[in-house]
Amino acid sequence: MWPVVINALMSVAAYFATLKTIPRLKDMFIRANLCGIDMSKTKKERIPEAQGVVTGCIFLITLFLFIPVPFNQHITEKNYVNLTDNEFVEMLAALLSICCMLLLGFVDDVLDLRWRHKLLVATIASLPLLMVYYVNFNSTSVVVPKPFRQWCGLTVDLGWLFYVYMGMLAVFCTNAINILAGVNGLEVGQSVVIACSVAAFNLVELFGGLWRTHQFSLFFMLPYLATSVALLRFNWYPSQVFVGDTFCYFSGMTFAVVGILGHFSKMLLLFFIPQVANFLYSVPQLFHFIPCPRHRLPRYNASTDRLEVSTTRFRLSQQGVLGRASVGLLRALRLAHVEEGAGEDGDQVECSNLTLLNLVLLWRGPMHEESLVRHLLALQVVCSLVAFVIRYPIAFLFYDI
Ligand code: UD1
Ligand code: MG
Repeated sequence: MWPVVINALMSVAAYFATLKTIPRLKDMFIRANLCGIDMSKTKKERIPEAQGVVTGCIFLITLFLFIPVPFNQHITEKNYVNLTDNEFVEMLAALLSICCMLLLGFVDDVLDLRWRHKLLVATIASLPLLMVYYVNFNSTSVVVPKPFRQWCGLTVDLGWLFYVYMGMLAVFCTNAINILAGVNGLEVGQSVVIACSVAAFNLVELFGGLWRTHQFSLFFMLPYLATSVALLRFNWYPSQVFVGDTFCYFSGMTFAVVGILGHFSKMLLLFFIPQVANFLYSVPQLFHFIPCPRHRLPRYNASTDRLEVSTTRFRLSQQGVLGRASVGLLRALRLAHVEEGAGEDGDQVECSNLTLLNLVLLWRGPMHEESLVRHLLALQVVCSLVAFVIRYPIAFLFYDI
């Protein structure tokens, strides 16, 4: 328990360091032209962007200073940390992957990468992690749920497919947070809820047989939470800073790292239910079945100070089969607002942008920005509770745990 307590104390220090650092660096970011305009405000002032780089650096420094703590025994017993020590190598690889992602996220904020590059970038950053997994565990078997065991046996070896799955998990986690964004406090807010859920899960499991891997995950989650909560104070409505893609990528990779090395990637995905839903809902726009504008965030109505559903106009006849089918399906299921007869010649359709933010606005009507964030974060909390119900009472029906 001691390493966790020391880690928690260091995290408190990291929290205060973040609180102090962000306001001091704000002007420096604006001078470097790393800033954005808040699209849902009447005042169009420049707001420093990419502040995730500050929390990311403080997080990394905290963990670098923490490294001697769990490996202290090796040093005092003159049994120096040897490089074949699994946990030590895992920690370094995890930090390397997170560090890589932080750098690439920052590059994205500065250079505005294209979508296919964003996907490639996350895959590259996950390589150190996958390599260590390969050398240390190379366990690619998954336990089959009870009802399927009569056909598949107790475990199934997925082989290289398991590595594809883990790589995709890293790509998914990094991008899923980035596309559920656009209103003040949402990127950090959702990450804080996910991190709290992961930390709560780790704390419970700390008393179980797999306590080591959960302790390992806590080492990452506590400083992550501390720095992110401090960032949230500046990013909450009305935002004084934006977190940038740097924060989304760094967060996604941190979650992927603990999920993979902590062997709880399925549970991690359960904590990502809103992000999975938002991704699936976004598929027609992300894969260009229908046009996807540069920004899909809700439309700000200055006269009411509320956010409304944002839309995109296009000619349905010019879309492919998949585009027409998805618009038809969404309209039939009432999952999107589709209006025909738009445009000057009346030959276009106006379709709401396919994000969870717009869906909430579609169902609940226009609302204030802060209220929308609260709705989405409440949804995130409810999904975490559902995840715990699935993991504990329900999983007993399918697995012997
Ligand atoms: C993603 C979304 C995009 C969304 C954007 C907003 C997809 C495919 N992409 O793009 O639809 O519009 O995030 O984060 O879903 N901003 C605000 N208020 C906020 C946060 C951001 O106005 O609370 C604006 C600012 O102008 C900021 C910009 O969004 O500068 C940042 O956008 P960026 O992170 O570059 O967009 P993407 O991640 O590419
Ligand atoms: Mg972004």
